[in-house]
Amino acid sequence: MLGLATLARVAGEIRRDIAAAHARDPAARGVGPLEVLATWPGVQALLAHRVAHGLYDSGVPLAPRSIAMLSRAMTGIEIHPAARIGRGLFIDHGTGVVIGETAEVGHDVTLYQGVTLGGTGFATGKRHPTVGDNVTIGSGAKILGPVTLAHGAKVGANSVVLHDVPANATVVGNPGHAVRVDGRRPEGPDADWVHLPDPVADAMKSLGQRVSALERALAEATGREPEPAADVRPLRPVTGRNPAGG
Ligand SMILES: CC(C)(COP(=O)(O)OP(=O)(O)OC[C@H]1O[C@@H](n2cnc3c(N)ncnc32)[C@H](O)[C@@H]1OP(=O)(O)O)[C@@H](O)C(=O)NCCC(=O)NCCS
Repeated sequence: MLGLATLARVAGEIRRDIAAAHARDPAARGVGPLEVLATWPGVQALLAHRVAHGLYDSGVPLAPRSIAMLSRAMTGIEIHPAARIGRGLFIDHGTGVVIGETAEVGHDVTLYQGVTLGGTGFATGKRHPTVGDNVTIGSGAKILGPVTLAHGAKVGANSVVLHDVPANATVVGNPGHAVRVDGRRPEGPDADWVHLPDPVADAMKSLGQRVSALERALAEATGREPEPAADVRPLRPVTGRNPAGG
C-alpha cells in the first residue's frame, strides 16, 4: 500500500519538477514555488501523475485513471497512470501533450505543447517510446512506437519520429531525420539511417534488368515477340533530400 516512503519520494519529485520549471522556463524566473505549483499546467499535470502513478503501482483501482482524467480536463495534458516518468520533467504550456501507457521518460526531459509519445496501431506490450535523459522534444512533435530517443537528443517542432534517435542528435522533419549529431552535420552514408541500403531490392532490380535484356536478345534471334511482362510493380526509387547532407 501507499506508505510514508512513497509520499516522501513523491514530495521530492514534485520539488524537482518545480525546480525544472524555474530552470527551463524564462517566464517562471522570479515566480515563487507555490505560484508555479498553482498556475503552471505542466507542473500540475506532473503532480497529478506522481500521485496517480503511486496509486497505480500500489494496485489501487479506479483512482489512478480518475486522477489522470481530471488532470487532463484541467491541464489539457494526458499522461497514462502507468507511464514511467523520471525526475525533473518540464512540460511547457502543455496543451495537447499525450504520454502513453508504456512510455518511459528519463530525467530532466523537456516537452513542449502538443507532443505525443504514442503507440502505432493496436499492438500490445511495449508500444510507446523510451525517452532518455536530457532530451528536448519541440511543440507538435509526434514520437510513435517503441522507439528510443537516446540521451541528449533534440526533436524539432512538428517532427514525426518513427525510428531510434542516437545520443546528442537533432532530428527534424517528417519522417524525422538527423541534421546534427554532437553539434555537427552528419556526414557519409553511415549517418543516414532513414535511407538504409536494401540489398534484396537491389538484387531483384538487377535480375529484372538481366531478364529484360535476355528477352530482347531472344526476340531478335527468333523474330518472336517476347511474352508480355508479368504485372510486377516497379521498385520505388528512394528520392528526396538526403538527410545525411543536413
Ligand atoms: C530542433 C531544435 C531543438 C534545434 O535547435 P538547434 O539545436 O539550435 O539547431 P538549429 O536551430 O541550428 O537547427 C539545425 C537545423 O535544423 C533545422 N530545423 C530546426 N528546427 C526545425 C524544425 N522544427 N523543422 C524543420 N527543420 C528544423 C534548421 O533550419 C537547421 O537546418 P540547417 O542544418 O539546414 O541549417 C529547435 O529548432 C526546435 O524545433 N525547438 C523546439 C522549440 C519549440 O517547440 N518551442 C515551442 C515554444 S512554445
